[in-house]
Amino acid sequence: MPCPALPDGFDFTDPDVLQHRVPLPEFAELRQAEPVRWIPQSGNVAGFQDEGYWAVTRHADVKYVSTHPELFSSSLNTAIIRFNEHIERDAIDAQRLILLNMDPPEHTRVRQIVQRVFTPRAIRALEERLRARALSIAANARQRSGPFDFVTEVACELPLQAIAELIGVPQDDRAKIFDWSNKMIAYDDPEYAITEEVGQESATELISYAMNMAADRKECPAKDLVTTLVAAEDEGNLRSDEFGFFVLMLSVAGNETTRNAITHGMHAFLTHPEQWELYKRERPATAAEEIVRWATPVVSFQRTATQDTELGGKRINKGDRVGIFYASANHDPEVFENPDTFDITRDPNPHLGFGGGGPHYCLGKSLAVLEIDLIFNAVADAMPGLRMVGDPRRLRSAWINGVKELQVTAD
Ligand code: HEM
Repeated sequence: MPCPALPDGFDFTDPDVLQHRVPLPEFAELRQAEPVRWIPQSGNVAGFQDEGYWAVTRHADVKYVSTHPELFSSSLNTAIIRFNEHIERDAIDAQRLILLNMDPPEHTRVRQIVQRVFTPRAIRALEERLRARALSIAANARQRSGPFDFVTEVACELPLQAIAELIGVPQDDRAKIFDWSNKMIAYDDPEYAITEEVGQESATELISYAMNMAADRKECPAKDLVTTLVAAEDEGNLRSDEFGFFVLMLSVAGNETTRNAITHGMHAFLTHPEQWELYKRERPATAAEEIVRWATPVVSFQRTATQDTELGGKRINKGDRVGIFYASANHDPEVFENPDTFDITRDPNPHLGFGGGGPHYCLGKSLAVLEIDLIFNAVADAMPGLRMVGDPRRLRSAWINGVKELQVTAD
């Protein structure tokens, strides 16, 4: 039965939709009436008219798809629903070098290697340096007289520095990495005037930067993580090209996501002053997870059916695209009491903002949670009276719930 509230041609991955809002009412409608629904592409993107996808909106189904890679592949197409409209078909082969677009057993091999970067010990080792960074970011923002942009002055900086620290990018090169990663994600937004070609070029430059780094460490091993990851290929380490794509993925996966979690978190606090007061008073350890649930910076990823199967009472054909909507799962009333309430004491909080728990579950989760904790602690101390000036400006994107600008004042 067609879903009454969903207008004909409505597409959850249409950048024109996400530019204005996350379509929560439409998700709610689908969860209720047709939790697995075929969405024909709206046809507003040249060359992409003939492909549609199943929109999976319930928490349980998103988890099911995520935890069954043998039925729902990440490598048959890319993990991003509207990705291939931007790149040539043959470039998809290159995309398969990205962890996110791999299936077991290849995925298992690479994930086991890169996981070494993300051990609890490695993250703990970063904590004091990141805390110092967070404090100086907040202190610098506090010095600004009058309104300033929270995104550029506060939210961007820590995620970038964290990834750069993690992989050992020298301070002088960090701005370049930041710029390339921004360009790769901004092609959907005409305001940035970034063409597909520029997005592609940025990806190529970032990959070759990282491959040079890898080649360098092979020549002159150092006591750092790059050396550990690439030193001896025959000992089960990464090839230089795999390392290049790994850095590319980290730059997008770690920067855009955490930045938007921090920005949405600040916006949520400023629009829910009682939660901000509670945070400043009690600093609950549960706050970061609720911020990620509330923000859900990655709205969706996709899988592709490897065989005919069934989901939510629908027959899924081999080769069909399946969109898993974390943003919808995170508001599923079957799982969350008062899902539309921002509650930083929510516990338990089994949100799917970091993925549905399968083999691709976010590798950087502990780092992201640490960054969010550090930055909000620093902001609460340095700028307890922060106020919003005007509305946030949203990013036009097919899959990122992004904010480009959030004007605030600490005066
Ligand atoms: C995967 C979200 C921060 C690295 C993912 C996935 C999601 C996600 C939804 C896909 C899960 C799946 O398909 O099941 C987020 C959010 C973040 C965040 C919301 C911040 C609030 C980070 C950070 C890093 C990172 C800081 C690294 C520095 C990765 C990697 C993967 C991944 C490497 C791919 C894992 C794989 O394919 O095996 N993330 N992420 N993420 N994330 Fe994150």
